[in-house]
Amino acid sequence: MSSKILTGDRPTGALHLGHFVGSLQQRIRLQEQYPQTILIADMQALTDNGTHLEKVSKNIIEVLADYLAVGIDPEKTTICQQSALPALAELTMFYANLVTVARLERNPTVKSEIASKEFGDSIPAGFFTYPISQAADITAFRADLVPVGDDQLPMLEQTNEIVRKLNRLAGKELLVECKPILSKVSRLPSVDGKSKMSKSLGNTIMLGSGEDDIRKAVRAMYTDPNHLRVADPGQVEGNVVFTYLDAFHPDEAFVGDLKAQYRAGGLGDTKIKSILEEVLQELIRPIRERREKLMADRQYMLNILKAGTERARIETNEVVNAVKDAYGLRL
Ligand code: TRP
Repeated sequence: MSSKILTGDRPTGALHLGHFVGSLQQRIRLQEQYPQTILIADMQALTDNGTHLEKVSKNIIEVLADYLAVGIDPEKTTICQQSALPALAELTMFYANLVTVARLERNPTVKSEIASKEFGDSIPAGFFTYPISQAADITAFRADLVPVGDDQLPMLEQTNEIVRKLNRLAGKELLVECKPILSKVSRLPSVDGKSKMSKSLGNTIMLGSGEDDIRKAVRAMYTDPNHLRVADPGQVEGNVVFTYLDAFHPDEAFVGDLKAQYRAGGLGDTKIKSILEEVLQELIRPIRERREKLMADRQYMLNILKAGTERARIETNEVVNAVKDAYGLRL
């Protein structure tokens, strides 16, 4: 069987450099190797933003602009909208009967998200069951490869449990099991080095950032608080500027030399920051320019999303029909 890729994002905000390193670069590569679908998971975004209606809808187009601006090619990658695909909701309802509440409670990702989101006694049922909906996403596209961060591995495990259960019930290979493709670069730290990147915390560099924002962010970057004078030896580990140089500077040997100099003493923060700033300005300028053009032509983007979603609708309907056949429900 030839491989198929499905990935997805919750559209709760425009994308930043962390997404670029963590998943976008990988998707740009993968689209040359496999048929790839990217699902804009607006239904999943609503599972923990159920009362912020406009937050999700306005970010669909923002995320789409980011994809296209970085070089996701709609000729090679199908980009589609989750809520416009009824088959995904239908499959979720079928699979919900194959998953116990206890099993959902044991899902480590759901567990830690529930803890960090402080839902208290008010966990939305949709949030609690989102692993089921994600299993519907993956299986509806017959995807066998799913590029994800390691926090998503429990989702794939649960997906494969559902696949095996249903295949056993059906007595045939109705659904396809999936394997993760782990992104190799670890998560990029925030500018302040303290937390996860998030636009709302203002500690990140967005793909649409302007020149001044990039300059300010780099100047504010956390380095080594004990590196007070240029002549002092400095620490590279945990130094956000070096982490970013590792991620974005094209010349690894040059960065290696910089690190050696910094450790020995004699290399100032201003210098390493100006080197990093130049790299980031060059990386983001063309993305920002393409992004601005795209945002000025909303209709062009909507046409891409509609065409992708239409293709996805045909694909996913086939799977839901096969599942209904297996249950003997298509009378
Ligand atoms: N859960 C993913 C996230 O938090 C988004 C997502 C939804 C997804 N459906 C998917 C990822 C299917 C991979 C495959 O970003």
